[in-house]
Amino acid sequence: MIILKLGGSILTKKDSVNPEIDYDNLNRIASEIKRSLDKKHKELVIVHGAGSFGHPPAKKYGIGKEFKNSEYPEKRIGFSKTQNAVKKLNMEVCEVFTNNNLPVISLQPSTFISTSNGRINIANLDFLKKYLKEGFIPILYGDVVLDDDLKIVVLSGDQIIQYLAKNLNSDKIILGTDVDGVYNKNPKTNNDATFFKEFNSLDDLDSFDLTTNVDVTGGMLGKVKELLELADLGIESKIINIGKKDFVYKALEDEDIKGTIISKK
Ligand code: IPE
Repeated sequence: MIILKLGGSILTKKDSVNPEIDYDNLNRIASEIKRSLDKKHKELVIVHGAGSFGHPPAKKYGIGKEFKNSEYPEKRIGFSKTQNAVKKLNMEVCEVFTNNNLPVISLQPSTFISTSNGRINIANLDFLKKYLKEGFIPILYGDVVLDDDLKIVVLSGDQIIQYLAKNLNSDKIILGTDVDGVYNKNPKTNNDATFFKEFNSLDDLDSFDLTTNVDVTGGMLGKVKELLELADLGIESKIINIGKKDFVYKALEDEDIKGTIISKK
């Protein structure tokens, strides 16, 4: 079974102040997935990010930060608005995927996942498994969820991937983003950024510039931390640039492409 994350930075124009979809990327990726599945059937679960649909409202309402009870009415509105925004993105992603004849089924994380201190503690995967068994492609996405301690939090698609990889028998985890993999600094703004072909432990994070590329779910650093937890369990994953043509296809086909492998040494 393959778990594929489609980063919000690719599916949307993430820096846009308004929610905006990148249809060129979305259509291209849908057709690459179709091409690979037509070649040979694969069990696939897709998780997508929130991009300019989810990050701006989550940030505006400070979802995930501690708050006083008197602020709860305002926070609830922020939660609802964020949930609705990411649902809209998901509907559009599913629309494009079904138009490409991909049998996707959308599972809304805020309706069956909750967290404790920001980490998933309840998530019943029975339905997801049933759909997989029937040949469907479940699609989940970064969302807002209820939390036992913090009341409401942002749940990143990266944490969902990590949870799924741990709890389903997954043999390939591909994390698609808008850079070639892990760098010590943001490669878009730093010519001297160093590329990591492989990442094996939290010690490698020492050389990170923590001030760059941070969004409400921690940017690249957040992704690497999630994947390192998997590496500790012996589950390998790879971060690739799915802004590049055919990279999703090649990753699904096990072709050798540039990227950062996160594994245990
Ligand atoms: C964020 O999900 C979810 C919300 C902001 C509600 P991700 O962290 O997976 O989104 P991207 O991939 O960074 O856009």
